[in-house]
Amino acid sequence: MRPRYRAVITGAGGGIGAAIARQLAPLSDSLILVGRRAAPLQLLRAELKVPVQLVCGDLAEPGTLAAVEAAARQSGGLNLLVNNAGVSEFHSFETQSPEAIRSMVDTNLLAPMLLTRQLLPLLRQAPSAQVVNVGSIFGLLGFPGFAAYGASKSGLKGFSQALRRELSDTAVEVRHFAPRATSTGINSAAVNAMNDELNTAQDSPEAVAAAFVAFLGGDAWQKTLGGKESFFVLLNKLVPALPDGAIRKQLQVIRKHLPR
Ligand SMILES: NC(=O)c1ccc[n+]([C@@H]2O[C@H](COP(=O)([O-])OP(=O)(O)OC[C@H]3O[C@@H](n4cnc5c(N)ncnc54)[C@H](OP(=O)(O)O)[C@@H]3O)[C@@H](O)[C@H]2O)c1
Repeated sequence: MRPRYRAVITGAGGGIGAAIARQLAPLSDSLILVGRRAAPLQLLRAELKVPVQLVCGDLAEPGTLAAVEAAARQSGGLNLLVNNAGVSEFHSFETQSPEAIRSMVDTNLLAPMLLTRQLLPLLRQAPSAQVVNVGSIFGLLGFPGFAAYGASKSGLKGFSQALRRELSDTAVEVRHFAPRATSTGINSAAVNAMNDELNTAQDSPEAVAAAFVAFLGGDAWQKTLGGKESFFVLLNKLVPALPDGAIRKQLQVIRKHLPR
């Protein structure tokens, strides 16, 4: 039985983050919601019936990490950190801008690592605590057009596993949750058009949040959403030539939508 949560949720103004905040609120004593834009966070706070603090700032900035820590200290500590904020750009790698590549690595990998480091002393004070890193199917199964995004999410998975083992003799669990395609604003029109043409299954943010809350209450250290996707991830580990061939067959369609 998990205790009631005192949680930090990054990217809470976005599709998946807001859905997680809504479903986590009844199970929580306090929430700290983080994002760059104030408006979506303020709207979300207005509908939640739990004490909520907002931290508006860029997680790539050290000042934002310090502000999250200050908010957590003010609310009397925390026992759950959800590293959910993320950015993605679907683009041909050869012509992708260095700024976009840097932004994905900074936001999707470095920021969760540094925020976790910043909050670990507080998390360790709780009788039991969790850090849950929101990865992606593309961090587990390399996909054309997502080389930089996939690299950042793959790094996040590696970070989660190593830190989980490093903290395995403490009361802090580190876990990894990987959604498949989900209908949120992170996906550009080109991604949506490609997904339609490839018949890629898409989840709603609410379904992802429900799976997330169930995952939080369970014991598995990681979860990949989607039966078919989980099977492909396994296949990718055991016989990578098979997904190589299947994705190679999709390459013409992918290229049609891939911004260059
Ligand atoms: N949707 C999918 O298909 C899908 C699939 C697999 C994994 N995921 C992962 O799920 C997570 C949530 O994504 P989503 O689909 O809900 O996308 P989303 O709707 O675009 O939400 C992402 C949130 O992250 C925040 N954010 C981005 N950069 C930030 C920064 N530097 N500092 C602080 N906040 C920042 C954004 O808010 P501001 O712009 O206000 O900062 C936004 O609210 C991401 O990690 C994503 O990679 C999504």
